[in-house]
Amino acid sequence: MSDPEPARMRALRFHAHGEWTDVLRLEDVPVPAPRANQIRVRVAACALNPMDWVLCLGLMPGSLPGGVGLDVAGTVDAVGEGVADVGVGERVFGVPDYRGQSSAGVADRAVLAVWEPVPEGLDLLAAAALPMAVETAVRSLDLLDLSAGQTLLVNGGGTMVGFAAVQMALMRGARVIATAGDTFAGRLRDLGAEVTAYGDGMVERVRDLAGGAPDVALHTALVTGVLPDLVRIVEGDPRRVMSISDFDEHGLGVRTTGLEAGLVPRYDALGRFARLAAEGRFTIPIARTFGMEDWRPAFEAIHGGQAHGKLVILPDRAATAG
Ligand SMILES: NC(=O)c1ccc[n+]([C@@H]2O[C@H](COP(=O)([O-])OP(=O)(O)OC[C@H]3O[C@@H](n4cnc5c(N)ncnc54)[C@H](OP(=O)(O)O)[C@@H]3O)[C@@H](O)[C@H]2O)c1
Repeated sequence: MSDPEPARMRALRFHAHGEWTDVLRLEDVPVPAPRANQIRVRVAACALNPMDWVLCLGLMPGSLPGGVGLDVAGTVDAVGEGVADVGVGERVFGVPDYRGQSSAGVADRAVLAVWEPVPEGLDLLAAAALPMAVETAVRSLDLLDLSAGQTLLVNGGGTMVGFAAVQMALMRGARVIATAGDTFAGRLRDLGAEVTAYGDGMVERVRDLAGGAPDVALHTALVTGVLPDLVRIVEGDPRRVMSISDFDEHGLGVRTTGLEAGLVPRYDALGRFARLAAEGRFTIPIARTFGMEDWRPAFEAIHGGQAHGKLVILPDRAATAG
């Protein structure tokens, strides 16, 4: 027997732009309806990203009230007009319509604009960790035009985009040098990366490890001020550095990928990396899970820049058990 359709649900939302501590509220709101070419899911797991508190600041397009939570996995409970590739009851993961709807993924139900089936062998918690890290890493490596035989430096191999990029670069046949803290240094080495610490002396450590200059560098850490070091590492050529987190306000000439015009999201890669994850050949580590009511400590951790893995809210804890 199917559950009766709920009329209302819990959702984490903001009604004005500002610091997340000031504007986010867990509210009782109407369940959103999927529009054409959208689906609605019962959210089992929603992974957080630094972009969630950026959304609160109003630095991304979108109307008010707005929701947070951009990485979702759950079970389809309604489909919009024109959707033929998925049906009610199927497991999917994807990206909410956070611009068009007044709630997003940290909610009991979410309307998705982008989705893929969760392959057999992959649980909903692991699936929720994928979209942002996979999409961003694929896009960044493609923009860098990384190919087999090249050496890539990932500055921030312990960020989840960085952790994804290391695995993808190794799959492409690149040699990978990564900077990382203690949490993931061992796992990155096990994957095949050569790892050193970030921070003071990084230029020399990376150059020593690489035996010269890496061909290209990807900056993924949410820190500013290191782009000049990365440019030095790649022999002074800023076009060999791609940054997803520091948008080069000082005009070094580093390449950036963010909200600039022409950004084409690489959602086409989600299905492939989910299948690899189901086969145990790709992973995004989960640091901690939280109940919906514990959203504040989750946001504190993501805002502090020291998540050490994905932080995941579980609106429906039972759906991810086992
Ligand atoms: N431009 C885009 O399209 C786009 C898309 C998605 C994300 N982003 C941005 O990409 C960045 C990374 O996102 P994420 O979700 O992957 O981050 P994350 O997983 O939340 O990154 C946190 C991790 O960064 C590492 N870290 C902290 N300080 C560091 C430093 N000085 N150098 C190197 N690593 C450091 C720490 O790992 P360890 O200390 O354990 O190594 C920490 O656990 C964010 O700024 C996000 O906004 C941009």
